[in-house]
Amino acid sequence: KPESQSLAAWVEETREGIDSGRFPVRAFNDQAVYDLEQERLFSKTWCFLAHESEIPHPGDYVTRYIGNNNLIVARDEHGKIHANLNMCRHRGNVMCKAEMGNASHFRCSYHGWTYKNSGELVGVPYMKEGYEGRLKRKDWGLVRVRVDSYEGLVFGCLDPEAPPLDEYLGGFQFYLDLYLKHGLGGVEVHGPPDHWIADTDWKICTENFAGDGYHTPVAHQWGFHLGYFPSSGSTHSQGWAVSIPGKGHGIGLGHGPNFPPFGGFPDDLVAEMKQSLSPEQVEVFSRTRTAVGSVFPNLSFLMQPFSLEPGEIGVRFVTMRLYHPVGPGRMEMYSWCLVPKNASQEYKKEAYRAYTLAFGQAGTFEQDDFENWTKVTQAAGMTMVRDVDFPYIMGMDSAPDPEFPGPGHAVVPYVNDTNFRNLWSRWADYLAGEV
Ligand code: FES
Ligand code: FE
Repeated sequence: KPESQSLAAWVEETREGIDSGRFPVRAFNDQAVYDLEQERLFSKTWCFLAHESEIPHPGDYVTRYIGNNNLIVARDEHGKIHANLNMCRHRGNVMCKAEMGNASHFRCSYHGWTYKNSGELVGVPYMKEGYEGRLKRKDWGLVRVRVDSYEGLVFGCLDPEAPPLDEYLGGFQFYLDLYLKHGLGGVEVHGPPDHWIADTDWKICTENFAGDGYHTPVAHQWGFHLGYFPSSGSTHSQGWAVSIPGKGHGIGLGHGPNFPPFGGFPDDLVAEMKQSLSPEQVEVFSRTRTAVGSVFPNLSFLMQPFSLEPGEIGVRFVTMRLYHPVGPGRMEMYSWCLVPKNASQEYKKEAYRAYTLAFGQAGTFEQDDFENWTKVTQAAGMTMVRDVDFPYIMGMDSAPDPEFPGPGHAVVPYVNDTNFRNLWSRWADYLAGEV
């Protein structure tokens, strides 16, 4: 395409392409696309901030991002969670320089303005002598961000007009419960998140975790062969790909022909899960070996068994990950291990060990993925790919499975592009300014 083609025309062409199963390579590494995502997408979507168990006590806080905006996410003295821009209203200094901690107040290191952890301005040096009554403290609190939560997941939204979180999730809660309702006590984070910078576009990760079962028997083939992951290349495509049309969220539910119901979970936890989940969720969950899903735009979950003894089912671990874009083709990965609150310490330790070996920063599966994702990102930055598309035509004509008991659009087999077409179409709607 000529370089002079306007970005708006490119976005329109991209939307038409998605309908016919094509998506442009350029989207994965381009300054103009990155800038448009900041302006039109991250400024409007609900973005994950923190899990409530990361800040369980009054005064606990973490600093996180929505797009390029750094936020303080803190629990106030009454237990309520607030998110505020991490910027002093006086001259813009960073208020909180730590990633996590406990503080009732934040005092600016430049001129000393002091705010409650809820964001209200409470202290101004030389208030009387300097401002002579002209400064009203209530007008100069930290810039607030909307927050809302689902089952311990705290989200923030920069757009005051955006629909509420429940509507945004649009039925995907049914699938989030498969990661979050492991027992009657729910789940908690096991320690702080690993996080690291990668030369990878955030969207590649969102897509992969929206149900890319296609790569597993190849990129992670060693896991099959050595018996660390109970699946085989010939049966790996079995299961459902489920998307929430018009919302962008998607999940892959991989089955195994001989995989036992709730395999990898201890019996007492399974008994609790049967109470915490609906009968329809139990029907879906009990058959699922691997659940890999993305909440649009940049939060993902994975639950899979991983064995330290080749040939065994092993233990189920859950990882939650956030892809924070920091530039075209560059992101910061945050990766947590979630464990059932009511599980034994021994089980939590085992699950964390399996997570670390497979999907921690130096995890074996993790390295398989990033090796491929950084190469895809490099390719997407080449000048010759400006006119090149990728095919997204798997399952183009699949009808939804009428027997499937959950919400959304469920198709078989699990290896499918349906979720990705839904994802890109939502992404393009935001970039076109239509959301
Ligand atoms: Fe914070 Fe001046 S910049 S008090
Ligand atoms: Fe992978």
